[in-house]
Amino acid sequence: MSAPPETPKSRKVTVRTLARMRRGGEPIAMVTAYDYPGARLAERAGIDVVLVGDSLAMVVLGHENTLAVTLDEMLHHARAVRRGASTPLLVGDLPFLSYQAEVAEAVRSAGRFLQEAGMDAVKLEGGRRMAAQVEAIAGAGIPVMGHLGLTPQSVHALGGWRVQARSAGTARDLLDDALALERAGCFALVLESVPARLAELVTRRLSIPTIGIGAGAGTSGQVLVLHDLLGLFDRFTPKFARRYAELGREAVTALAAFRDDVRAGRFPTAEHAYEMSDESWAALAELLTEEGGAGTPATGPRRLAGRR
Ligand code: KIV
Repeated sequence: MSAPPETPKSRKVTVRTLARMRRGGEPIAMVTAYDYPGARLAERAGIDVVLVGDSLAMVVLGHENTLAVTLDEMLHHARAVRRGASTPLLVGDLPFLSYQAEVAEAVRSAGRFLQEAGMDAVKLEGGRRMAAQVEAIAGAGIPVMGHLGLTPQSVHALGGWRVQARSAGTARDLLDDALALERAGCFALVLESVPARLAELVTRRLSIPTIGIGAGAGTSGQVLVLHDLLGLFDRFTPKFARRYAELGREAVTALAAFRDDVRAGRFPTAEHAYEMSDESWAALAELLTEEGGAGTPATGPRRLAGRR
C-alpha cells in the first residue's frame, strides 16, 4: 500500500491566516477532533482548523444530543487535542449552559479553553441574543467563532434536527444575526443546515469567513464531523455528510479477525512474544528444582507472550 498523502501545514494557522484565505478566495478546511489520535490525523492531513466540537457528546460519549456534555468534559478532550496538533487553528466549542446565562460566565468559560487547554479560539451558538457574550469574549482578547442555522444546543426549541431559514422572513433573520455577530467581533461564522443560496448571500455580505456544514458550496470553507467523515458513527448519517472512508466497517472486520485468531490459537506467534535466554531459563529450572518444585516445562510459558 502506498504512503498516505501527508501535507502538514508548515506554519501555524491563526485568525489572520483565515482572514487572508477568505480575502484570497482560498477555501478553508475544518474538521472536528476529540482526542490525541484524531488531532494527529487532522494535523498530518494539513487541515486548517480543528474544532473540539460539542458533537463529542453524541459521536464519542453516546448521548442523544449535545446538551449533556459539560465544560469540564470539553476541556478534558480539548487538552488531548492540543497534545496532538499545534499547527491548525484550535477552536474549543462552548457547551450548553457555559455561556448563555451570564456574560461574565461566558468570558470565564471561554478563557478556560485558552488557559487550561491551549485552544486558540472558542465557538458559541446563537445570533443577536449572544452579541453581548461575543463582544465581551472578543473584548477579553479571545477569538470567537459564531454558529447560526441549525444550532444543536437549541434542538428542542427548534423542534428537532431540521433545515433552518427556508422562508424569506427566517432567512432575513439569519442574515441580520450574521451581521450582528460580525459587528460584535466574531472572526468567523459556522452556517449549519441552511439553504445553499442563503449561505452564499451571507458569505457575500460578510467580510469574515463563513464555514458551512450542510450549507452548500458558496461558503468560505467547509466543516465535517470527523466521525461522519471517517465512517465511525453509524447511528445516522446526515444528508450533508460525505463519508471519505469506512473505518468503522474496517475496524469491525479487524476485531473479528483478532477474535478468530485468538480462538484458533493463531495469535500470538513467536513474532509477538518476548524471550528469555536459555541460560536464564535453565537457571530458573534449577531454582525451582532446589525449592522442591517440578522444574520448568521444555518450552516457555505461553501466557507471557505479547505483554508490553
Ligand atoms: O460540535 C460540532 O461538531 C459543531 C460542528 C458541526 C460545526 O458544532
